[in-house]
Amino acid sequence: MVAETVKIALEKALEIMGEREYTSPLLDARLLLSHVLEVDKSYLYLNLDSEIPGDRLKRFYELVEKRAKGYPLQYILGSQEFMGLEFHVEEGVLVPRPDTEVLVERIIELVKSEKTESGPKILEIGTGSGAIAVSLAYYIEDAEVYSVDIDETPVRVAAENAKRHGVESRTHFLHGSLFEPLDQLGEIEYDIIVSNPPYIKSDEIEKLQLEVSTFEPKLALDGGDDGLVFYREISSGGLRYLKSGGMLAFEIGHDQKESLIEIMDRDYRDIETVADYGGNDRVVIGYKKE
Ligand SMILES: C[S@@+](CC[C@H](N)C(=O)[O-])C[C@H]1O[C@@H](n2cnc3c(N)ncnc32)[C@H](O)[C@@H]1O
Repeated sequence: MVAETVKIALEKALEIMGEREYTSPLLDARLLLSHVLEVDKSYLYLNLDSEIPGDRLKRFYELVEKRAKGYPLQYILGSQEFMGLEFHVEEGVLVPRPDTEVLVERIIELVKSEKTESGPKILEIGTGSGAIAVSLAYYIEDAEVYSVDIDETPVRVAAENAKRHGVESRTHFLHGSLFEPLDQLGEIEYDIIVSNPPYIKSDEIEKLQLEVSTFEPKLALDGGDDGLVFYREISSGGLRYLKSGGMLAFEIGHDQKESLIEIMDRDYRDIETVADYGGNDRVVIGYKKE
């Protein structure tokens, strides 16, 4: 392939990607080019007239084509930032979303406002990249975090991310469905159960943007006919593992608040909801009744 300058390559990439709607196509193109050139993004601004070697240029256009078909940028780059930490992501794990930071921030705030002698034991259902489990272990220094996923890829990826952030000794990733793998650990009572479960109604998945509906794992999205299957399972199943007064914290879809309050009302008290920065209800928290 004949060498081209950075400027021309970026312009052509925008043309290729132009047929679909992106949040920020130029940013995507810059990130892909700096990824291929193994340079910092700032290099591109200062070297618009530099020539890109043919082999790298070919690779760049391959990735642009892939992105143009809706393949998530984060899977190409292999990473996504969450709570100020860089997480490795790949096909088979959900890309962590900024909305989920609201859930993690609130849990950290509540834990830090309570004086306890030992750190909290936290159980997460639905690990993904480990974004929630690793961040909680990272920001709550004495927390012990257990996290379960039904798929093997998240269990492996999350363990890698825990290592990357130096919390591998306080995080435990378990393979299995819901509470099923916990029995092998013996009797542990958890202070907190947290989950960002699959919560999209089955028949709405196809309507999501291409990046999500085609390329992100269905297992991470599908919440059954009404989107609430996992909330019911975790609210009732969690009672056996949660200590009296322990916290149950969920991320929810923007229109699920009322349903969640109804699901949790019988067994949990002091239910609170937290909105995300866009004003949408995003988090529901309650405490196991004594
Ligand atoms: C919405 S994703 C959340 C991932 C991550 N915690 C985050 O917030 O980015 C839900 C996760 O639940 C997992 N999952 C689905 N069904 C499950 C089950 N029955 N038991 C445990 N995990 C399950 C999926 O594989 C997926 O990783």
